[in-house]
This record gives sequence, C-alpha cells and structure tokens, in this order.
Amino acid sequence: MKSSDIRSAYLDFYKEKGHTVVPSSSLVPHGDPTLLLTSAGMVQMKPYFIGEATPPSPRLVSCQKCFRTTDIDVVGDAGHLTYFEMLGNFSIGDYFKKEAIAWSWEFVIERLKLPQENLWITVFLDDDEAENYWLDLGVAKDRILRCDEKDNFWGPAGESGPCGPCSEIHYDFGEGTGCGSSDCGPSCDCDRFSEIWNLVFTELDQDAEGNRTPLKQKNIDTGMGLERTAALMQGKRNVYETDLFTPMMDRIADLTGRRYGETDTVTKAMRVVAEHGRAITFLIADGVIPSNDGRGYVLRRILRRAALFGRKLGLTEAFLTKIAEIVVEQMGDIYPELTSQRDYILKVIDIEEEKFDRTITDGLERLEGMIEIRSIIPKEYVADTDTIRNRILELTQWADNTFYDYGPKLEEMSALKREAWIFAHGILNDALSSARQIQTSGDGNEAETVVEKELSIIAKMPTHLSGFEVFRLWDTFGFPKEITSEIAAENGLSIDLEGFEEEMEAQRERARGAKKFGLADKSDQAYYESLDVPPTEFVGYGEFFTDTLVVGLIVDGEP
Ligand code: SER
Repeated sequence: MKSSDIRSAYLDFYKEKGHTVVPSSSLVPHGDPTLLLTSAGMVQMKPYFIGEATPPSPRLVSCQKCFRTTDIDVVGDAGHLTYFEMLGNFSIGDYFKKEAIAWSWEFVIERLKLPQENLWITVFLDDDEAENYWLDLGVAKDRILRCDEKDNFWGPAGESGPCGPCSEIHYDFGEGTGCGSSDCGPSCDCDRFSEIWNLVFTELDQDAEGNRTPLKQKNIDTGMGLERTAALMQGKRNVYETDLFTPMMDRIADLTGRRYGETDTVTKAMRVVAEHGRAITFLIADGVIPSNDGRGYVLRRILRRAALFGRKLGLTEAFLTKIAEIVVEQMGDIYPELTSQRDYILKVIDIEEEKFDRTITDGLERLEGMIEIRSIIPKEYVADTDTIRNRILELTQWADNTFYDYGPKLEEMSALKREAWIFAHGILNDALSSARQIQTSGDGNEAETVVEKELSIIAKMPTHLSGFEVFRLWDTFGFPKEITSEIAAENGLSIDLEGFEEEMEAQRERARGAKKFGLADKSDQAYYESLDVPPTEFVGYGEFFTDTLVVGLIVDGEP
C-alpha cells in the first residue's frame, strides 16, 4: 500500500463510520499559549474537548501535520522523526471506548490486513473495560498487557489541558528481531515492536499544577503514525525506506554520489538531511522563520543541523533548497500550502543556509582546534581538583611551556584552529593563575570557594568544552549549542551548558548596557571609534609577539 493509499483508506473508513473530514491545522497552533508547535492531531480539537467551542460534527477525522522537538538530536537513527503525519479519529462527547476499539481493530485487520498474530495490545493499569472490549474482538488475553502512567496515559499536550488513559496497538516484528531480553515487550526501547496506534480516552482535564478533574464529556482522540504504518505496509523496517522518503533519498544520492546503506555514517547523514529537509519545508510553509528563540530557533537549529550533515556527505555548497523542491513536488497535492508558498519557502531556506554556509567551514575548523587541545592536557595533573591543587605549579609550568613546545605545530595550523587552540589555552591559563593567586593571597571561606571554582574549571578542561568556547562558536559562527554538543559528544566531550548560559546572559547584559549609552552592541568597537585613531591591523593570528605603539587611552569611558 502506498502512503497516499493508507491516508485515503483511513479517511474513507472513518467517513463510512459517520465522521467529517477536517483538514490538517497549521504547525503553528493558533491561540494556544501552552504549545510551541502542533504535536498531535488532537491539538485543533482541544477547544471542542473542553467544551469551549462547538465542533462541525461530533465525529471528526484528520491527517494532521505534527512536529515534536523532543528527539531532534537523535534524528538519524531508524525511528525518530521531528515532522510526521498523524492519522486520527475523534469523538467529541459522542462514542467512547467500545467503538473506538472496535473500529481501530476492524481497520487494521480488515483494511490494512495486518496479521493478528503480529499484534499486541496495551491498556492502562486498572482499565478492565478496555481490556474486555479487546477480548470481545477475539484478542488473546496473553496479548493484552497492562501498562502504567508512563506508557498508557496520554497528555496533556503542553502544560495543561485534556488528557486520559490510553490503549495502544503494537506491531511485533518477531522474536529474533529485538534485544532478546526476557522482559522485552511492546514498551521496550529496542526495535522489535513498533507502536502504530494510540487510542486515548480523553475524559480528564489537567491544570498547570497537575491536578486532574473529569471533563464534562467523554471524548476519543486517536493517533496512528502514517510513516510507521507505511513502513509495515511496505515491508520495511524503517521509515526512510518507505515511499514517503525515497524520492528525497534519491535526490540526496544524486547530489552527493553516496548510497543509502553505504556506511552507517552515510546512512545517518542522509536520514538527517531528508528528515530535516522535509521538516523545514513544512515549518516555513506554515509561517515559521529562522530566529534565535521559540519556534524560529527550532527551525534554525534543524536547518543548520541538516546543512552540517550535508557537509559530512561531501556537499560544499548550499543544497537544502534542492531537497525542499522534492518535498513540494511530492506532497504539494496533499498540502496545497507547499505549492502556493513554494518560492517563499525556497527563498527563506536559501537566505538562512547561505548565511550559515559562509561560516560553517570556519566554525568546524575552530571546533576541531578546541577538541584537539583537549587531547594534550596532561591527565596526570588534572585527574581531580585535589590533584590539581597539589600539582598546580607543575601544571602552570606545563602550560607556560606548551606554547614553546607546540610553537612549530601551531605554525602549521590554520589560523582558526590556532585561534581556538590559543583561546582554550587562555582559559586554562587564566583559571590556573587565578587559582594560584587566590591560593597564595586569599584567606577565609570565600577565597576557598573561588579557588574551588577555578580548580573545577581546570578539572573539566580535558572532558568539556567551556561555556566561553561554545558561546564563541554560537556568536561568531552560528553554531547552535546543540550542534556543538553533538559534535563534541562524537569526540567524547561534553559541553558546559551552565557556562554557556552565563555567557548568553552576559551578552544580553552588554546589549542592554550598550543601548543605555546609545552605543552599538559592540561597545568596545564604539569606544575605539571615539578615539579617532587610524585603523590598526590585528596580527594575533599569525604572531605571538609584536612591537607596537600606544596611541590613545580610554579612561572612565572617555578618550
Ligand atoms: N494524542 C495522542 C498521541 O499523540 C493520540 O492521538 O499519541
């Protein structure tokens, strides 16, 4: 069954059961402050569920565009997606568990013709009623499992709103396909089982404090993942091999000369490019534009992640519009906003990718420099803060000598790598000299706390990128911290998130200060200009020492 056939089979089936088809709502939820993006088919039904608005019919069915931000960093594995389509049928105070269960079974067994022996059911802990309906349909008792809140209670979407216990249908690929553990089951994280349909019995309303009260009416909200279902129907183990993704995969193969399945790295990169390429096309069509916060940041982050993974496939120039063209061509008849907004979508992608493209190589090179220096910091000195405290002089000696020892190596490095290297070295040196100074001159508990802080900066150096560095990559090269973190992790390093947030806050503070004095954001530059001296050349990338002349001073903000 092609994906378009699954879509129409679903809508037709529920039309036969008296449902009215409603179009997908926008990925940007209207008038819903609890949500960043539309994450489920029920989002547009929320006002109906809570009795705030009257639905066009008490039985509705849709194929909804959805976006979930929780798994962005793992997109590229076999199953996680940011953007996906959710088929769903909804009852607004009309039918409840009995019909919802019976019709879902009829659809999977009689329309999709999935073999019953491959299906498993889960129900909420105390939901005997739901279990009995499944038993009445002929499902074997040992194929029905009870699951707790974590797995079988759904919602609310966002901080508050309608929610309820649920019951799920899972497809079993067979014993030999999973982790093999004795307690492997539908809730296991291995890929033996695929959750294909979630039936939510939406009878509760949850407030922001987590208190639940019964809704005035009992509702049904179901969601079946189109991509996963297409994989089953097309005999594939993962969504990227279905007809929803193959046109994009073919295009990526044409552009790069690489083949899906060639190596794990190539496969992952192709998946990321295809998945994010599709997601950005839909987000932009719904009016999201790249920015540094909210939904705009989600868009920027995945667009840049796709651009970086394109690099891994050997692409050296902007390419994402070519992926978006395929998405529009392939999905434009189902989602007409793609066709009507085609030029606009391509333009937004083009501008954002070009902007990133100008700095991406430089950023990567600098990041490489940061990673490289970590490997030469002598582990015997920085094992823990006690060791550093005892061997602080040896470590200082090492840091002082490093420039001389590594002089020739530094000369060979590219300017950016060298700069990253020197920057990291500077952080280490600063921390060392502060710790040393406070240790010798300081007294009392306060000084001790500061020493501890400096020592912990040093101790973290070999295993972490500092907040300064991550911030520099963001500020100068447009690397979202999540991307830096991902590349760092590939090299066995973590990032200092707290330090990064401190740097961000300091930048906001600087911007506020600059505004107050009527200066541009770069206040140092503005002070410098007020000196009225001819431009000077920055030589720090190529020389460590230079003779120079002081031509002016700023004192208390005055030249
Ligand atoms: N709202 C439920 C889900 O997203 C069912 O549609 O899984």
